[in-house]
Amino acid sequence: MIGHYVRRFFTSLSRRPPSPEDEQWVASIAPAPELALFTRLSNTDRRHLIHSARVMEHALGPDDDPVWVRVSLLHDVGKFDAGLGVFGRVTTTVLATVIGDARVRGWASRTGWRGRVGLYQTHDEIGAAQIRAAGGTEAAAVWSELHHHPERFASSSIPMSVLRRLDAADH
Ligand SMILES: [Fe+2]
Ligand SMILES: [Fe+2]
Repeated sequence: MIGHYVRRFFTSLSRRPPSPEDEQWVASIAPAPELALFTRLSNTDRRHLIHSARVMEHALGPDDDPVWVRVSLLHDVGKFDAGLGVFGRVTTTVLATVIGDARVRGWASRTGWRGRVGLYQTHDEIGAAQIRAAGGTEAAAVWSELHHHPERFASSSIPMSVLRRLDAADH
């Protein structure tokens, strides 16, 4: 478990852009409004989302809807608004653990650094609203909203077998 976080932390320090092949692949699967939400993200976030989508693609069987690949690709697009780097993100996660998720989310309407921390913590809801506003896939909005709330999986419109694969791909 700790090993996972340590690995993820060092992966997130790399600012290397995704490969041109990966960027072309994204452009070939995402419709224009969804691609626009993706393209504005940092190299680190694009790499993470491409990785998730690739893992999801491999996890799909011949009878599964290919839309789940795009659903996986878009789950963190709401991170754009906070504009936080890796250390601000780590601080946000620590704060949410110490003082509670709800309180940190409540900072989203504030200005300054606290506001950015609040926006980062709220990236799931922000991303969902942006996907809907752009006319993107509704299932992608649902997964964005849900991806940090496993306790809500059972009441979701997305089948549990798909949710498990989406969740596993987000690592
Ligand atoms: Fe997320
Ligand atoms: Fe993620």
